[in-house]
Amino acid sequence: MVRPVDDGPTPRQRRFANDIMQRPQVARPRPHGARWLLLLLGSLSLVGCHRRVASHGHHRRHGHSGLTLPSPAVEVDAEKLKPFSALPASFASKDGVATPEMVALGRQLYSETRLSKDAKTSCNHCHDLDRYGVDGEDSSPTNGPVRERNTPSVLDAALEFAEFWDGRADTIEAATEEEMSDPSALGWPTSSRFAPAVKALPAYAASFGTAFPDQPNPISIENAARAVAAFERTLLTPSPWDRFVAGEKTALSDAEKRGFLDFVSVGCSTCHVGPLVGGTMYQKLGKENPWPNQRDQGRAEVTKVPADALFFKVAPLRNVEKTAPYFHDASAKTLPEAVKSMAHFQLNKELGTEQLSSIVAFLGSLTGSVPGADSSKTRDATVAPSPSAIPDASDSAGTPSAPRAPSASATGHATP
Ligand code: HEC
Ligand code: HEC
Repeated sequence: MVRPVDDGPTPRQRRFANDIMQRPQVARPRPHGARWLLLLLGSLSLVGCHRRVASHGHHRRHGHSGLTLPSPAVEVDAEKLKPFSALPASFASKDGVATPEMVALGRQLYSETRLSKDAKTSCNHCHDLDRYGVDGEDSSPTNGPVRERNTPSVLDAALEFAEFWDGRADTIEAATEEEMSDPSALGWPTSSRFAPAVKALPAYAASFGTAFPDQPNPISIENAARAVAAFERTLLTPSPWDRFVAGEKTALSDAEKRGFLDFVSVGCSTCHVGPLVGGTMYQKLGKENPWPNQRDQGRAEVTKVPADALFFKVAPLRNVEKTAPYFHDASAKTLPEAVKSMAHFQLNKELGTEQLSSIVAFLGSLTGSVPGADSSKTRDATVAPSPSAIPDASDSAGTPSAPRAPSASATGHATP
């Protein structure tokens, strides 16, 4: 018969409990009484270890007796959340001067194919806003030289401490200007070709004029980059994770919460922290075991310091389940593969199937809604970050305060 829950374990349950503790897995704290209840159920049905309860819904049904019991809620200690934070509602540049007119111009330029040498390539060609800011290719096809690295997403990228895999640009403005004159992006051999290309499209004269009203000659690559960057700064993708970090305990499922606890206890959060779960530091790729592909030396190619060899920016993990393939060299084609690699090369740990899928479940909670893209493809289209969670809001005056409404010109051919 069912014994009162607080009676403590029988010798058999004790063996069972010891058995659990000895498994080479991360211990998961559970409320005291609930654990014995679980153990009891486990031993009654003789179906083995049910440490993982159903991931969705708040009850689990006991197969044989038909009893419905509340599953023990997974508790995430506030201390563990401290290195993370929700996305801000907006993220202004240091000079804080983005206006709605600049953002509107930036959105048009972002998808403007006629500014490329072959008149077919826009920023959106590789950083496709309908595909979470990437193109899904190992290396993006271009009309110029081959791009050696996998295309990172532009979503949320403004919040990173540095841009590009090797951090060679300090701000999204600088990265955007570099992309506009990179022959492997739009095909132009030098930056001097970009402004004439804009001038050849008379309809832009007016939009540059309203975006930069104080300037006699507003059409320049600097202003184009400022406008596109102002648009990129609106591309923030709040997700269930933001609501969870802001204190909404039910925003994540138990499976996702358990995945987060695994993410922390395995050691991923020694590097992947902050509002983007990454993008706050450089680290050596292959810290514990040498990374197989040594061709790209990362940070050392920028600093010329040998000690920086194979250091890369810790990649942000926002929307990561949607941005395959992974790593600067696109060496992992699926997310579980990427997580397994990280554990091995960065932490010298081999993950079991259960931990692997648990961490992958957590990473899924970082998938947000893409402003201006097809909301049917995103998981949580209506979520907005809590206003209490806005860092750095002091310099955001004059910035468009929220992701903007879907716009036909966000993708495809812009005709101003
Ligand atoms: C042909 C594909 C391609 C096109 C077109 C392209 N990019 Fe990129 N973009 C890349 C690749 C590849 C990288 C990574 C390069 C590196 O790290 O060395 C990148 C990096 C970036 C980054 C840095 C993101 C981060 O998280 O570090 C930004 C911002 C960016 N691009 C914006 C733009 C803009 C704006 C345009 C249009 C003017 C553009 N890109 C056009 C492929 C492309
Ligand atoms: C010692 C620091 C460090 C640790 C620990 C670490 N990572 Fe990373 N992670 C990185 C760096 C650096 C990159 C960028 C790699 C590159 O340049 O190719 C990265 C990239 C990734 C990527 C690829 C993202 C993309 O867009 O391509 C994923 C996924 C990832 N990490 C997940 C994890 C998980 C899960 C763990 C724990 C099992 C973990 N990382 C542990 C430093 C670390």
